[in-house]
Amino acid sequence: MQRQPKKRDAWGTRLGIIMAVAGSAIGLGNFLRFPAKAASNGGGAFMIPYFVALFLLGIPLMWIEWTLGRYGGGFEHGTAPGIFHSIWRKNRFIKYFGVIGIFGPLVIFVYYSYIEAWTLAYSFFALIGKYTGIADQATMQSFLRGFQGLEHNRFFQGMGPAYTFFLITFVINITVIYYGIKGGIERLCKWAMPLLFIFGVILFIRVITLGTPDPARPAWNIANGFGFLWNPDFSALKSARVWLEAAGQIFFTLSVGIGVILTYASYLSKGNDVVLSGLTAAGTNEFAEIILGGSIIIPAAFVFFGPVDIQSIARSGVFNLGFVTMPLVLNKLPMAAFFGFAWFFLLFLAGITSSVSLAQPAVAFLEDEFDISRKKAVFIFGAVSFLFCHAAVFFLKNGVVDELDFWGGTFFLVLFATIETILFAWVFGMEKAWDEIHKGADMRVPKAYKFIIKYITPLFLFLILGMWLWQEWLPVIFMKNVSSSDRPYILFTRIGLALVLLTLAILVKIAWKRKRMLEEKIS
Ligand code: ALA
Repeated sequence: MQRQPKKRDAWGTRLGIIMAVAGSAIGLGNFLRFPAKAASNGGGAFMIPYFVALFLLGIPLMWIEWTLGRYGGGFEHGTAPGIFHSIWRKNRFIKYFGVIGIFGPLVIFVYYSYIEAWTLAYSFFALIGKYTGIADQATMQSFLRGFQGLEHNRFFQGMGPAYTFFLITFVINITVIYYGIKGGIERLCKWAMPLLFIFGVILFIRVITLGTPDPARPAWNIANGFGFLWNPDFSALKSARVWLEAAGQIFFTLSVGIGVILTYASYLSKGNDVVLSGLTAAGTNEFAEIILGGSIIIPAAFVFFGPVDIQSIARSGVFNLGFVTMPLVLNKLPMAAFFGFAWFFLLFLAGITSSVSLAQPAVAFLEDEFDISRKKAVFIFGAVSFLFCHAAVFFLKNGVVDELDFWGGTFFLVLFATIETILFAWVFGMEKAWDEIHKGADMRVPKAYKFIIKYITPLFLFLILGMWLWQEWLPVIFMKNVSSSDRPYILFTRIGLALVLLTLAILVKIAWKRKRMLEEKIS
């Protein structure tokens, strides 16, 4: 008796998959994280390590993941344990390294979906004018703190609104996943991405036409605003940290090293192009990041807060920039409600098209490796992640979100990318890999990338990992930068993360054992 091949979900159109991968890439990272990083790491000079990382890490990893994903999909595997196993069958342990490709997205999903909920809440607040009257940083800050449940004030007396918007956002995410790759994710991205670009272009035009709003302060103009962000400070390039920050941004923004592209690409069929599609998705992300993301927050804030205050604003962190500075800026414009809505809804669309991609690997793992229905897989994922999200919702003030971001959104990304690259270029072998990339390809990858993928990308990754271990390992392990009151929470988070990793590894073991038994039965 022969085992019937499973009917896996599939993308409807090529445009659909490009939109979905671009949707996964374009996220809060493009509009909040990127301008904050650029402004505080040398301005225009930041773009040098940024582009080096894009061409030597980001784009190669994009191609690696699209190719590995499509390859694994051919063996009915949509997540890293199965994909790694298909590449290196002789190695019994490699599938366990693949666990990171489910763990990472799950961890990011847990805090990302909560922050996404804030964007939905603020879109609503903009429309009903809940923060319209606020004109100074301190009050807008306390509005945000009240909303987050960090203090009781005249705006918020509890976490009710934040929790309600979290529930709404969570349900929307789960509903999209429930309808599957084509019926849910592709359908969402097909309208959300164009809408996101419309809002992005509207805000971009509004910002570049700001001129000099206050004639008494002629230097506070939009040209100087762009100058503040983009004038290069080349001395920043001497700092290893700036190079690490640039590489970290490339990983986060392109969604590489996470595991989500592997899963998305596993729903391609054998003859589908990956070279041009991967490049198009990466290019779309870079347009959204550099042109739109780089032109909105910082230049606009400069015009209204001037060259002195912008220094501290740019360093005030991602949340402050997005949820304090930007609403203040937009409040000063005519049609503030509309622009406030446009800004936060843009962030929401950017967020949701990313968070559904973060949810998909865990769902695909359950479907592919345990042969359970999508309905059941989504239900299990929903129940487990719902529980985990509460750590982000209720312990934000104790640094739990930052901790999850460090492990899920930074450290494991680089580790996972290193494993993938070695497997692809050295275990699978560069010759075979090169053929595999070009199956059904609409363009050839420049030859130099054969050398880059084999030598430069892994070396670059080792360098980053090495520098991290050298500079940050001990302070991180011993929680040197954590206040003593937060240490129990951080410790608890770490134990929780270790348990999740362990559970996933056990699930992989069970899944493989189960498959072996099924195969023995059949033969
Ligand atoms: N790539 C996604 C972002 O930039 C995760 O937010």
